[in-house]
Parts: sequence; C-alpha cells; structure tokens
Amino acid sequence: MKIGNIDLGNRPLFLAPMEDITGPPFRVICKEMGADLCFSEFISSDGLIRDSWKSRQKLYVLNEEHPVAIQIFGNNVESVVKSAHIALESNPDIIDLNFGCPVNKVVNKGAGAALLNDLPKMKEIATAVIKSVDIPVTAKTRLGWNHDRINIDEVALMLQDCGISAITIHGRTRSMLYSGSADWAPIARVKNNPAISIPVIGNGDVNSPEIAEYNFNNYGVDAIMIGRAAIGNPWIFYHIKTYLKNKKIIEMPSVNERASVCLKHLEGEVKWKGEKRGIFEMRKHYSGYFKGLPYGKTFRNILVQIDNLEKLREILQLVIKKDTLLC
Ligand SMILES: Cc1cc2nc3c(=O)[nH]c(=O)nc-3n(C[C@H](O)[C@H](O)[C@H](O)COP(=O)(O)O)c2cc1C
Repeated sequence: MKIGNIDLGNRPLFLAPMEDITGPPFRVICKEMGADLCFSEFISSDGLIRDSWKSRQKLYVLNEEHPVAIQIFGNNVESVVKSAHIALESNPDIIDLNFGCPVNKVVNKGAGAALLNDLPKMKEIATAVIKSVDIPVTAKTRLGWNHDRINIDEVALMLQDCGISAITIHGRTRSMLYSGSADWAPIARVKNNPAISIPVIGNGDVNSPEIAEYNFNNYGVDAIMIGRAAIGNPWIFYHIKTYLKNKKIIEMPSVNERASVCLKHLEGEVKWKGEKRGIFEMRKHYSGYFKGLPYGKTFRNILVQIDNLEKLREILQLVIKKDTLLC
C-alpha cells in the first residue's frame, strides 16, 4: 500500500492521532513495535499561526520516526494552508487534515467533524492545502454527522477529486462520539466503490490480532489504524503483525519488559515536555502498561501520585530488576 510515493507494505498498521498521547516518544516506541506509520496528535492551525508555544511543541519530530504524519485542523482556509507550511518545517512525510474531531471546542469553531456539514468548505481546505505543499496530504474523518446524515461516500469521492492521497475513516458518526460500536460496513462500501482508487484506512475498535485480521479480510481496507488499544500497549502492533503472518498469538510481555518500555516512554516524555508536564501526561499510559497483572492497578495508583522523575525512575527500575514484584 502506498501513500504518494511512500511504500508502507502489505496490510500496514498505523498509530492513530490522539491528543496528548501520540507525541514523538510514544510514536518512536510504536514504530519499534511494528507500526508502519504514526500520526501526531491534531494541531490547531490557529495556534500554529499565533505561534503558540504549545502548538509549536506538538510539531516536534524525531529522526527515527519517519515516515510520520502531522495532523492539523482548522476552519479557515488561509490559516490551514499557512499552518501546513509551518508544519513542513518539521519535515513530516505526510500532512493529515482532521475532518472528524467530534469535540465541542473544535466543532463549535466549524472545524473537525463540523466540516462534514460543510462540504464546500472541506473541499476548499483540502484543495488549497494539496496545492500548496509538495508532500502527500491525507484526510481523517467519520461516517457523517449523525445516523441520518451519513455522507462518507460523497465525502470520499470529493476528497479524492481534490487530490487527497488517502482517507482514514473512523466507523462512527460525530454524534456517537466514542459510544456504541464502530461500523465498518460503510468503510467497506467506500473501499469497494469502483470509483475510489485512493487507499482507504479503516479505524475504530480494533484491539486484537483477530479483529485486525477479520477487518482486513472482510472489509478489504488497505490499512488499519489503531488508537485506544495502543495506549500503554505499543506491543499490539507486533502482536497483530505476527498473527497476520502466521496466526501465532503472542502473550503480553513480561513485567520486566513492560516496566522497561514504560520507563523509556517516561524519559522521552520528560525530555520532550519537561518534568512536570511529561510526568503528568505519562499518567494516561500506566494502566495500559500494567494491565492484567495481579498488582497492576495498585502499581498504577502508586505511579500516578508521584511527581518526581527520580522517584519514578527508582520504582520502575526496581520492578525491572525484580519482576516478581507485581505478580
Ligand atoms: C484520547 C484520544 C485523543 C484523540 N485525539 C485525536 C486527534 O488528535 N485527532 C484525530 O483525528 N483523532 C483523535 N482521536 C480519535 C482516534 O484517532 C481514533 O479515531 C478513535 O479513537 C477510534 O479508534 P480506536 O477505536 O482504535 O481508538 C482521539 C481519540 C482518543 C481516545
């Protein structure tokens, strides 16, 4: 499967963009575990133009991440184009346009999923960005605004006509937010439309090797994007890849390995965002890293209360050395 000239192999797996989750340290770890392409969290085009420090920081890309996609969102055509140019300074391989974010703070400004209700504006934004950058531009969206207004078939054709290089479809509507189950049938309908030639990336509720295989086989998507199931479990990419290759189910890694990767992740977050914010944001990952272990929850509850890097290091290193501690 290719996005522009970027060859991503057969049945590739992508790490979904997730706000405050998919920063460079986590993307590198997911890449090492087999993710073929990782997406940055969404970055506000208005924030980038205002030169907001927080938005600029999100643009950071590490050398070992490539290929990597930077996702931007906005409602104003000129701002989104300008911000795409600012994003290019980080040397991403792909610019991804967010046309699917359901949260009020975004849709109330006419951005994200709100553009599913304003296709002329979506078209204008996509066309203008594609025209002004010389790397592939992709789009991520949902099935439609709500159950009665599912327009993904029209949206996909329109974006393809604009020159979008690939489309990611999350199988929910905006009004579902994250409730219910992702519906992959409309994703398959887009993929199987003879008029669609761009790669179609399926997204929503893939959290096991068996589901990934089922979705590749039954919905025919070119790639699968994984979000929540990767939080605290970057091994999911390796586990799915192995299963797709030889049907082998791999157990979750040892406590020792989990703590080692968790510590590496923590160090990366702190290096990137500073001690206070790095430690704070890392708290979202602990329950995933130690899930299923007899003392995993207790350990997570201890870790989230510590706001000192040295102390966290000490505890994680103790678990790395004595991995029976959590069993
Ligand atoms: C914490 C969190 C943050 C998210 N942030 C973004 C984002 O910045 N951009 C985006 O396109 N989608 C975002 N999403 C949506 C995911 O990319 C993905 O579409 C959704 O979680 C469904 O996939 P999953 O079932 O594999 O998690 C976010 C989801 C979560 C849970």
